[in-house]
Amino acid sequence: MNAAVYREFGGPEVLRYEAMPTPEPAEGEVLVKVLAVAIDYIQLHIRHGGSGRIGSSQEAQYGVKDPPHIPGGMACVEVVALGPNTTGVEVGERHLVGGVRPGSYVEYGVVDAEDLQPRSDERPGPTAYPQSFMPEQAAAFDYAPVAYHTLKIAAGLRAGETVLIHAAAGGTGVLAVQLAKHFGARVIATAGSEAKLQLAHKLGADVTINYRTEDFVPATLEATDGRGVDVVWESVGGEVFTRNLDCMAEGGRMVSFGSNSFTGTGHIDFLPFWVKNLKLIGWGGVSNAQSRAPEIMEELIALAQAGKLKPVVRHVYPFAEAAEAHRLIEERQSIGKVVLTP
Ligand SMILES: NC(=O)c1ccc[n+]([C@@H]2O[C@H](COP(=O)([O-])OP(=O)(O)OC[C@H]3O[C@@H](n4cnc5c(N)ncnc54)[C@H](OP(=O)(O)O)[C@@H]3O)[C@@H](O)[C@H]2O)c1
Repeated sequence: MNAAVYREFGGPEVLRYEAMPTPEPAEGEVLVKVLAVAIDYIQLHIRHGGSGRIGSSQEAQYGVKDPPHIPGGMACVEVVALGPNTTGVEVGERHLVGGVRPGSYVEYGVVDAEDLQPRSDERPGPTAYPQSFMPEQAAAFDYAPVAYHTLKIAAGLRAGETVLIHAAAGGTGVLAVQLAKHFGARVIATAGSEAKLQLAHKLGADVTINYRTEDFVPATLEATDGRGVDVVWESVGGEVFTRNLDCMAEGGRMVSFGSNSFTGTGHIDFLPFWVKNLKLIGWGGVSNAQSRAPEIMEELIALAQAGKLKPVVRHVYPFAEAAEAHRLIEERQSIGKVVLTP
């Protein structure tokens, strides 16, 4: 089989497409054919040799390891063979899974059968996705639980509140805009181009700000009559992280769950936290049992099937062009999720 792999840390160009042995499923494992993989932003950090906080003692938990390395990421897969004495899974089943080995950018990989087991109560399990979705849409849908958790559980977004969503036309941002509207919030969206803002507006954003032509801080304050927002959905880091504090209302919450700027969050001045009673909530992913709990999956799948939660997939690349796909994201040209297929 073939896989996209890098043998040294570096820019997108280190990703190569190489032949390698097809893995054999052992007892308790299944062989899967990978149908589509959504590129996870963290894979860019890992490919560069860090998680955006190089030197952090917690870096190991982000999976940074010495190359050669096949990137991971959530994949829509089809079961094609079972390992010896493996039960509870049928050939032909399709799932949305992480943990494909030796990585996700592969034609074939192995997965633990126990990760694919259906729930005994027939409610949707963590690997479920809307059955009408093509594999590319399914892979992009995987970020819906991330958007749900960060907005609703972590930041506690409520109906009638105002939320500031950065990178609103990104793979996760498009889902966050739609979910925030579903939760009854008013959405102020920022993005770096008019095409991105048009998309955010089409998906329901009430106010859009092109931060390249307009300072998002006064624009956000103006859009809230000077009050500021109740919630900031923050995955940019660096200066944006710090300046968000100036856009927050009394008692506002900011959920931080990424660092697209590769800068981390830098120094945090606590004065605005005291003056305005602000809350900062970190979200680094939670267990499948929490983020893909059946009630969350039911709500997300029902919304998707009703056409009210649409992943955006405008860029699909074959694994052989994984370097171009990574470059597109790194150059901030992507809109929605970038997806790889065999
Ligand atoms: N904690 C977790 O478990 C978890 C899970 C999934 C995702 N995440 C995080 O969620 C975030 C969104 O992920 P995603 O895959 O959906 O990515 P994405 O939003 O599609 O990322 C790309 C976009 O980020 C925007 N961006 C804003 N400021 C940027 C900057 N300084 N440098 C580069 N890009 C910038 C760009 O759009 P503009 O042109 O609009 O600026 C760019 O097109 C990432 O930080 C990711 O790590 C976290």
